[in-house]
Amino acid sequence: MLEIKNLHASVAGKEILRGINLTVNKGEVHAIMGPNGAGKSTLASVLSGNPAFEVTAGSVTFFGENLLDMPPEERACKGIFLSFQYPVEIPGVSMVNFMRAAVNAHRQYRQLDPLSASNFLKLMHSKEQLLELDYKLTNRSVNEGFSGGEKKRNEIFQMAMLEPSLAILDETDSGLDIDAMKVVANGVNALKNENNASLVITHYQRLLDYIVPDFVHIVYKGQIVKTGNKHLAIELEEKGYDWIKGEENQA
Ligand SMILES: Nc1ncnc2c1ncn2[C@@H]1O[C@H](COP(=O)(O)OP(=O)(O)OP(=O)(O)O)[C@@H](O)[C@H]1O
Ligand SMILES: [Mg+2]
Repeated sequence: MLEIKNLHASVAGKEILRGINLTVNKGEVHAIMGPNGAGKSTLASVLSGNPAFEVTAGSVTFFGENLLDMPPEERACKGIFLSFQYPVEIPGVSMVNFMRAAVNAHRQYRQLDPLSASNFLKLMHSKEQLLELDYKLTNRSVNEGFSGGEKKRNEIFQMAMLEPSLAILDETDSGLDIDAMKVVANGVNALKNENNASLVITHYQRLLDYIVPDFVHIVYKGQIVKTGNKHLAIELEEKGYDWIKGEENQA
């Protein structure tokens, strides 16, 4: 569904992505690892259409269409979901209204009627149960005063509501206690099916005990320098990033 070829991107005149190649098929979970500043969040931003990043070379297709030509809203409606490393707070907008607007915008794009208030609430409650989310959160303003863990769970909740084809989770595990991490992982696993895929950006092999990836890619200096299966994450945990850097120096 997603085909990234030789993707180069810059921010503020500095080249960050330096030739990313990645193919994601339906039903696959890909983990993206790599040291701080390697370009992982930049890749997520470029895929979701953040205008701060300029694509200078390469191509990205999503279900055969040129993704880079689409504005961010269209990418979202086509099924790309980005869970942010640092979720934003939206004071004054309740979770319920925010999610209803988002779900109905997606439905409108697919030429479906908006969900009635009662059907929307039913959908919301079914997803809350799936994620074991605290009901109280949904009546509060989006992310306002949420703890770090609550924000991350909330991102997963939004994902559950929108049922994206491609979910990009940027360090959804950072700052989560072990139980919250399991809730997030269970949510990702519960939503997984043969028609969707996820890109899970993480620093921790531990998360991958719960969300078992089909592929693990290591990004270093804006390129994917190694690809393997879940054992690569374990090897990385043992050897650290000096291992990757060392191989580069020898090359
Ligand atoms: N808006 C921006 N302006 C200037 N530089 C930026 C901007 N966004 C990202 N960068 C730079 O791009 C590089 C890659 O950042 P990115 O956030 O993609 O790294 P990352 O791999 O996600 O790291 P981390 O593991 O710390 O989250 C960094 O050097 C960062 O400072
Ligand atoms: Mg990042």
